[in-house]
Amino acid sequence: MGKYIIAGNWKMNKLPSETYDYVKEVAEATKGAACEVVCCTPFVNLSEAVKAAEGTHVKIGAENLHFEDSGAYTGEVSADMLCDLKVDYVIIGHSERRQYFAETDETVNLKAKKALEKGLIPIICVGESLDQREAGVTMELITGQIKKAFDGISKTDAAKVVVAYEPIWAIGTGKTATAEQAEEVCAGIRNVLTELYDDSCAAEITIQYGGSMNAKNAAELLAKENIDGGLIGGASLKSADFAVIVAAAK
Ligand code: PGA
Repeated sequence: MGKYIIAGNWKMNKLPSETYDYVKEVAEATKGAACEVVCCTPFVNLSEAVKAAEGTHVKIGAENLHFEDSGAYTGEVSADMLCDLKVDYVIIGHSERRQYFAETDETVNLKAKKALEKGLIPIICVGESLDQREAGVTMELITGQIKKAFDGISKTDAAKVVVAYEPIWAIGTGKTATAEQAEEVCAGIRNVLTELYDDSCAAEITIQYGGSMNAKNAAELLAKENIDGGLIGGASLKSADFAVIVAAAK
């Protein structure tokens, strides 16, 4: 299945002045990792993060980008700006952005295409709310999110994408999906990707689980066939916890 990737999503945490030392700490704590290790940081922390990651195995990601190349978009950041800083990854369509910042399936698709065009690896987030899960529409909703996110993306580009399945009810709540629940949806995502592309392309795509993944539950989740990594919020802010998760991804 897809290459194992453990990515930290710092969200709106850690100061630029704390970033260099912390990324160095992550690099040290995860030395010899068998998977790709990524720290996704706020925009203003990125240049320090990249500087600290240079010469180490750690890769740096942003938490968002704009889909236009440049222009009158006050407060926004373009793919070229991220590439100029030597950022490798970018999170797209995180549920917090969908919920608080009017991100839609359409903007997620535009951003994913822009990221790929510029050589950034998009981490596309999908996931259902508790109401949607209880209404039994989880897979229907996620199928729609995946189909819209990948609309117009070629097979060659699709194989580079990372998908993060993050049930909204599990994010930052301490309520993790059971390994079986997470595997069921990740396998479903793989099936949708097979339908859109083919078996070998779907197998190449890294599918992460995210939502209260921590040092205690990571091994069980990551042992599942269709879970190729994790997008880690809270537990990525302590290098020791993050390192345990990285070590579980083999
Ligand atoms: P969490 O966040 O690990 O704090 O639940 C995950 C995410 O939102 O990416």
